[in-house]
Amino acid sequence: MAVHSPESTAYAWRGLSLDVARRFFPVDDVIRVMDIAESVGLNRLHLHLSDDQGWRLDIPGWPQLVERSSGSGVGGGPGGFYTEADWDRLALAAERRGLLLVPEIDLPGHSNAALHAVEGLNLDGVRPPVYEGVEVGFSSLRIDAPDTERFVRDVYRYLVDIAEGPVHIGGDESHATEAVEYGRLVDLIADSVRSVGGTVIAWQEAAAHLEPGEYVQVWDPRLAVQPVIDAAERGVQVILSPASYVYLDMKYRESSELGLTWIGTTELDRTAALEPSRLIDGLDPASIAGVEATLWTETLRTFDDVSYMLLPRLAAVGEIVRHGRPDWDSFAADLPARAAEWERRGWAWHRSPGVTWG
Ligand code: ACM
Repeated sequence: MAVHSPESTAYAWRGLSLDVARRFFPVDDVIRVMDIAESVGLNRLHLHLSDDQGWRLDIPGWPQLVERSSGSGVGGGPGGFYTEADWDRLALAAERRGLLLVPEIDLPGHSNAALHAVEGLNLDGVRPPVYEGVEVGFSSLRIDAPDTERFVRDVYRYLVDIAEGPVHIGGDESHATEAVEYGRLVDLIADSVRSVGGTVIAWQEAAAHLEPGEYVQVWDPRLAVQPVIDAAERGVQVILSPASYVYLDMKYRESSELGLTWIGTTELDRTAALEPSRLIDGLDPASIAGVEATLWTETLRTFDDVSYMLLPRLAAVGEIVRHGRPDWDSFAADLPARAAEWERRGWAWHRSPGVTWG
């Protein structure tokens, strides 16, 4: 495929993240998502395992997390969670497809499911109700709650234990956490990973708390990016997930049934126009580890919904991370043959404009 980009070599981090917290997807569905990721040349699958609406990973010593907080999701159940045996199946399937599985437990915000499950994470000992809506930014761990430190250390020790690579701590949209407390909580969380030999990834809001060799994931370049640039200058590696290009939960067009529009609509040509090294002025391109598309699942219910949102846009992401921004004409000319393969494999996909699908 012809390319016209200065980025002619593959990025090390070629990722997709899947939100299994807003909507739980069973192991077999996640493995089918891995098949899609592999088919476009990706090498990382990041699972967003906790959020306000659900907790999806059984943590030794904290059975109430899945007992109380795994049955929910956006709009209700049925929910679900992964046992350690499930995780092992996922990790093996990932390895067979050349994917590194990256677990995320998102704290200190996005934490209503944890607060709902564990009395001792609440300052007053009162568990908040289950949350099944789509708002963000209202929940927070509290540094002075009796169980916070033990909980954080146990959760991330376990993540480091089961992960083959870095562990994602979240850190985004913690709007209900006062700034000083946010810093103390993120430092505690990061230390709970580092102190047992793990490597931290965090969303961009936590950039100032990261150390050389760790990863910061940028999702909204409209938010402050100077802390990301500063972190990169200290040797933190940058993963780019700019919402307006690679948030594949955005609707294709206003009339699309599935998806959200908070940053606009995103057709295939928009995703294909991402030039990672040009995204953030002042960011040293050498600090960019790669790109990760995300799929948040507030509006998605089934594997077919997931597949429909990923394809064809994830194919563009695959081109960008392996070869640089694709030349539209040759990329578009190649897509009908790829769509025939998607059909053969039973993957739903969207007929984006600008392509002669046949
Ligand atoms: C994010 O979309 N809050 C990472």
